[in-house]
Amino acid sequence: MKLWKKNTEPDKRIERYTVGDDFLLDGRLVRYDCEASIAHAKMLAKIGVLKADEAKKLVGGLKHIQSLDKEGRFTVRSEDEDCHTAIENFLIQTLGQTGKKIHTARSRNDQVLAALRLYYRDALHETECGLLKLDRAFASLKRKYGKVRYPGYTHTRKAMVSSFGLWADGFTEALGDDRKLIRFVAGWINRSPLGTGAGYGVPLKLDRAYVAKLLGFNGVQKNGIAVQNSRGKYEATMVHALGQILYDLNRMSSDLIFFSLPDLGYVALPDAFCTGSSIMPQKKNPDVLELMRAQFHRVAACETQLKNTAANLISGYHRDLQLTKKPVMEAFDATLDSLAVAALVVENIKIDAGACRKGLTEDVLATEKVYDLVKRGVPFRDAYRMVGKRYG
Ligand code: ARG
Repeated sequence: MKLWKKNTEPDKRIERYTVGDDFLLDGRLVRYDCEASIAHAKMLAKIGVLKADEAKKLVGGLKHIQSLDKEGRFTVRSEDEDCHTAIENFLIQTLGQTGKKIHTARSRNDQVLAALRLYYRDALHETECGLLKLDRAFASLKRKYGKVRYPGYTHTRKAMVSSFGLWADGFTEALGDDRKLIRFVAGWINRSPLGTGAGYGVPLKLDRAYVAKLLGFNGVQKNGIAVQNSRGKYEATMVHALGQILYDLNRMSSDLIFFSLPDLGYVALPDAFCTGSSIMPQKKNPDVLELMRAQFHRVAACETQLKNTAANLISGYHRDLQLTKKPVMEAFDATLDSLAVAALVVENIKIDAGACRKGLTEDVLATEKVYDLVKRGVPFRDAYRMVGKRYG
């Protein structure tokens, strides 16, 4: 039954439209919603709104849902509308009158934000782990091939001597920047929205700080209007940070696609990582890298979607905001999958030192020759012109 149902029977067609696929997406939030509700129930007991045994029963019921969910036995159905409803209905069915008390002093508006933030916190932590794994893959590439020199490029034309050590370090440094950004965003959003209700508080004296502490938040996000208006804004910032990671993976993919061109052959992808053509039997295509490159654009679109969904709304909750859920989840999935696959690729590519040596044609050394002259006292511009004569 809907939490808000009074006397009218909702129109099924409208219901289907308003629920959309939210009930499916909410499958991921069940454990987090229970976690937040456990803290909420404990706080209600602390301030004397619930009796100790009532809170105990509610906590037990919520833990039971968490274990059912873990075994894949707690489903949010379309008729439930969302996980918050499914959970409350379950508590009412199993605990009767006590179950009806869980929603004291809250609204689904602060509730959904709490569940989402707990989910984000875990997903951001997983993102950090993925970044560290990729870091280790670059370190192992550097150990194996760091000294191999190859021509570095500008304008897709040979420029100066580079090495795979320099290349690996370049991405390690960039991913280190991304990690800092992820950490910053994780700290920024790690504040409790609970207790702000629908955006305008609750006419009870709550201990918001206690709930925040139980849930491991850094503190409370104070103002209810700020809380509601942050939905969409926080998400866009977080997805922007994820996009920075995919930006680096995008550039890395382009490098590897180029370095593994059969005409260059500096890098070889294992055959098992390549895909074939349905017509050209000789082809070994780097589809995996092309898709990784494209994920950046996909996540950039999620960021735009988030900002555009939330902007222009007057302060407070609007159902529009439900549509911010999917792009965030999509962005996390794209990032986590890409990080895992990128680590696999970096660990398994082979660098052909012979092909790299062949690529280091004499022109790649032109700048070094200029500097040999500079070191012997020739002014730079003269040295540049002297060497440059050979190249027309
Ligand atoms: N599924 C909704 C969302 O994600 C839950 C909040 C519903 N709140 C409401 N006032 N209708 O936004």
